Amino acid sequence: MTKNNANDNNEAGDTRPDRVVGTPKADERVVAGVPGAPHDEHDGPYEASETHVRPEEMQRRGEKVASLWFVLAFLGGIGFLVSYFLFPPNAAGEPAIGHPLIAQYSNMLLGGTLTLAMFGIGAGMTVWARQVMPHYEVHSPYDELPSSDKEKSSFGEFFMKGADESGFTKRPLMRRTLILAMLPLGLAPIVLLRDTGPLPGDKLKTTPWENGRRMYVEGTSRALRPEDLENDPNGMISALPAMDEEGHYHGISLDDQAKSVIMLIKVPEGDWKERMTEKIEGTDETRLNWTHNGIVAYSKICTHVGCPAALYERTTHRILCPCHQSTFDAADAAHVVFGPAHRALPQLPIGVDDEGYLIATGDFTEPPGPTFWDYAKD
Ligand code: FES
Repeated sequence: MTKNNANDNNEAGDTRPDRVVGTPKADERVVAGVPGAPHDEHDGPYEASETHVRPEEMQRRGEKVASLWFVLAFLGGIGFLVSYFLFPPNAAGEPAIGHPLIAQYSNMLLGGTLTLAMFGIGAGMTVWARQVMPHYEVHSPYDELPSSDKEKSSFGEFFMKGADESGFTKRPLMRRTLILAMLPLGLAPIVLLRDTGPLPGDKLKTTPWENGRRMYVEGTSRALRPEDLENDPNGMISALPAMDEEGHYHGISLDDQAKSVIMLIKVPEGDWKERMTEKIEGTDETRLNWTHNGIVAYSKICTHVGCPAALYERTTHRILCPCHQSTFDAADAAHVVFGPAHRALPQLPIGVDDEGYLIATGDFTEPPGPTFWDYAKD
């Protein structure tokens, strides 16, 4: 609404404050409404009293700057056309841009000239609008957000009339059967959730690891011995439980592989940190008791959202998950030192059997992988 309309409102007793859009600068304000000023001849869309013409000097300067931008845009446009035809096919008819270097030059020229053309037009129009065209001071009343008492009572009346008319209150049989019809819909989510599959039971908390189970190099059926870690240049080997079932690749199901994959890491004796020597809750053991000759086994599944945390830096003993950079300290019970994971990688207790092969001496004591609903230990 324009200022004049707002004034009409005020005259009609509307006391709401006016909103002002676009406060003019002091040096521009003087032009509006002054008899004989340029805008008196200006035939703009708003009232003369709301129109603020830029000073003549500013307009002339703006005109020159905008024109300069338009000329640059023109040159950019011509340059774009020229660039397109600049690299004709060779004598054999093969496109010149088939050569990577020429394709690179062609792309740079096409992109650069087109950018200049479009930017020039945009910049010129901005200068035109801000320095040449007049601008306007427009007034409109604020809208009141809360409904008035009158509006509220009229809505209430309207609603009750509608309810009466619908027969919802007058016809109990229909109302009650409608409510009855809607009841099963309230139970529908339960059915849908049930349909997502059988409850997992303790599947998320247990893995095929058990006392005496040997470990294979991931992707092979080669059982690991402690010496393998001595000679490994990376200081880390990924392993799975030795196979025990027919019919699965690598002898165990993919689900079981996904939760039981581990990293075996060799840590020099003097590098262990405090958490490795603390008593494990409810036992007389420490985490060092779960290692063998400096070899420690951790779950390879990141406790953030389950990526394989498979990057190991042997000098700092840091295990890094490449997905969101969670970092765990292998020398400190795989405690989180950085990143979004909030739980250490579970440690698998290990030892060797009579034949000198590495074995698990039990399952993980915590579920491997991302934390889930009934397991929210920090
Ligand atoms: S899954 Fe490892 S940091 Fe997110």
